[in-house]
This record gives sequence, structure tokens and C-alpha cells, in this order.
Amino acid sequence: MLKVKNMMRAVRVYEFGGPEVLKVQTDVPIPVPNDHQVLIRVNACGVNPVDIYIRSGTYTRQPTLPYTPGEDVSGVVYEVGKKVTSFKRGDRVFTLKTDSGGYAEYAVAAADSVFPLSDKLDFKQGAAVGIPYFTAYHALFQKGSANAGETVLVHGASGGVGVATCQLAKAYGLKILGTAGTEAGMNLVLRNGAYAVFNHNDENYIAQIKRSAAAQDINIIIEMLADVNLDNDLKLLSSGGRVMIVGSRGLIQINPRETMAKETSIRGVSLFSATKEEMKQCAAAILAGAEAGWVKPFVGCEYPLEKVAEAQQDIIYSRGATGKMVLVV
Ligand SMILES: NC(=O)c1ccc[n+]([C@@H]2O[C@H](COP(=O)([O-])OP(=O)(O)OC[C@H]3O[C@@H](n4cnc5c(N)ncnc54)[C@H](OP(=O)(O)O)[C@@H]3O)[C@@H](O)[C@H]2O)c1
Repeated sequence: MLKVKNMMRAVRVYEFGGPEVLKVQTDVPIPVPNDHQVLIRVNACGVNPVDIYIRSGTYTRQPTLPYTPGEDVSGVVYEVGKKVTSFKRGDRVFTLKTDSGGYAEYAVAAADSVFPLSDKLDFKQGAAVGIPYFTAYHALFQKGSANAGETVLVHGASGGVGVATCQLAKAYGLKILGTAGTEAGMNLVLRNGAYAVFNHNDENYIAQIKRSAAAQDINIIIEMLADVNLDNDLKLLSSGGRVMIVGSRGLIQINPRETMAKETSIRGVSLFSATKEEMKQCAAAILAGAEAGWVKPFVGCEYPLEKVAEAQQDIIYSRGATGKMVLVV
């Protein structure tokens, strides 16, 4: 199929380092899909903290340089590989894994990593579904064995993964306690199904949680910043409770004894380590949720591609998340 042009705007990284290594170029070749890939005309791409860890060169998985960052793309199918039967040109789609990078006008992705985007969601919301919702489902249900009727504390509920976790937990019948760092974030958490919300910047908030009648039986904690909170999490859990470590950016000292009397557990979560079967289950649940109307990503900030460096700085260093951050292409 002939393309109107063969060059595109895209972000390129030639060396690992700070935000200055993100270069917006207009002369990047549009990728050509192989037999099993789909070429997507990108409308929006989610910015995830992992994009920054990778760019800085400190992450365990490193792409070959130069590369284009970004995975959580939404847009319209522009071209399909010869063996792709599941999509056709013009389909609205999202993916959480591109092969060529999502901070770009076009991206290729394996057809089996691409999903239909519900008409109920716009493209910016589509860019907020993949990694946040799949991670939330993986953490809550596949690794955390959450059950209806249990209480979950979403420790960091106002960002991309946090809001997704609240919506999933609500839909599956859990009672939700959440934390956020600002009033706007706290309101967002309440609007997304939390029974009670606490401000993790308030120095007494752990005591407030302990005093709250709603928090007497916390079965699961979905933890976004374990290096700060793990010690307190172990004290907050009820008998048999589990802390699911979704995010952590450093070291923390804990007393293992805290786990003994209540037989609590600490479990790490990595969406990257999810099996194909687990990913299929995540997709089935989330696509059904989008159709039913309760998967409703909240996009808090959007940036044009040219402001990619500012966006990446903000997701790590600015305080007060209000949902998901996306780049609009
Ligand atoms: N394991 C995995 O597979 C996986 C997948 C996706 C993401 N992650 C990780 O999960 C974390 C969250 O990702 P995200 O995309 O939701 O990022 P995000 O949108 O930037 O949200 C960050 C969240 O952390 C909260 N936070 C800030 N300080 C906190 C504290 N002291 N205690 C608890 N929460 C605090 C923020 O609240 P305020 O801004 O309101 O203060 C916000 O709710 C990141 O570390 C990310 O790397 C892991």
C-alpha cells in the first residue's frame, strides 16, 4: 500500500541520559510492518515512569540505541501485514507494546499485542489503558488474588495505575481506600470508587488510616512507592494480608518480624513478566470493562510531542497526579 509520505515526526534517543537526550525529529522513516505487524497512525501515547527509567540507562532492560520511547499507543490502523486478519485499515486500536516506539506519528506493533479501542473511549483515553490497566489487573487479581468483599488500600491512587486499580477494584466488589498527595488527587480517587481517601503528604496520615473504621481489615495493599511505604504497609495489613509492590524507587529498611504474627506477604509485580495467558486474561477483562463503561481512564495532563522532555520530567518530579499523562501526536 502506498503511503502519502515516508518520513514522520518522532522522538529519538541516541544516548542514555537526562531529558536533553530526547530529540524530536521530522525525518524519521515510517516503519514498515512485517507480515504479523500492524502499522498504527498514532493519535496519543501514554507517558509511563518506565519510559524515564529506560531513557536514563539505569533500567534492567535497555533498548538498542538509537530508539524511540513509548509503548502505550492509541490510534488508527494504517496498514496491516500480509498475515494479519484481525485488523484492517481504519480500525481504532490501542496497544501496550510497540516494536518501533510510540512517541511518534506512526508505530508498528505485533498484531497480537494490539486491541480494539472501544467507541466509548477517545484516543487520549486509549493511550491510558494499556500499561496502567493491565498492571492493575495483574497486581490485584493475578498476583494479589483479590476477592470480592476484601478491602484494598491503593497506596498512590491518583496516577495512571492508581485510578485504574480503583476502577477495577470497584467493579469487582472490593472496598477501596486510597491515598493521593493533593486535594485534586483525593477528589479524583473518591470519584473513582474509593470509600475513604487519605493524603500521603500529611505527616499523620498513617495514624489517620489506622484510626479509620474503614481500615480495620486491609487485605491487600497495591503499593506505588514501596521504598517509602513498605514498613508502614506491613503494620497496616490485616491477618493474611499481602502487599503488592508495583512501584519502588530505592531502598527501605523493614522488620521481617512484622510479617510473622499476621502471616502477611510481600510480593513484587512486573507486567513485563506476565505470561501470554495472563495478558490474554487482562485484555479480556479490560475490554469487557470498556464496553460495560467502567473502564474510564482519566487523562490529567497532555503534552504535544515537542514537549516530551517537560512531560518526562513532570511525571517523575511534579507532585499531585490527577490521572494519566499522555503525549498528543
Ligand atoms: N510493576 C509494574 O509492572 C509497573 C507497571 C506500571 C507502573 N509501575 C510503577 O508504578 C508506579 C506508579 O505508576 P503510574 O504510572 O501510576 O505513575 P503516576 O501516574 O506518576 O502516579 C504516581 C502515583 O504515586 C503517588 N505517590 C507519590 N508519592 C507517594 C507516596 N509517598 N506514597 C504513595 N504514593 C505516592 C502519586 O500521588 P500524588 O502525585 O498525588 O502525590 C501518584 O498517585 C511507578 O513507580 C511506576 O514505575 C510499575
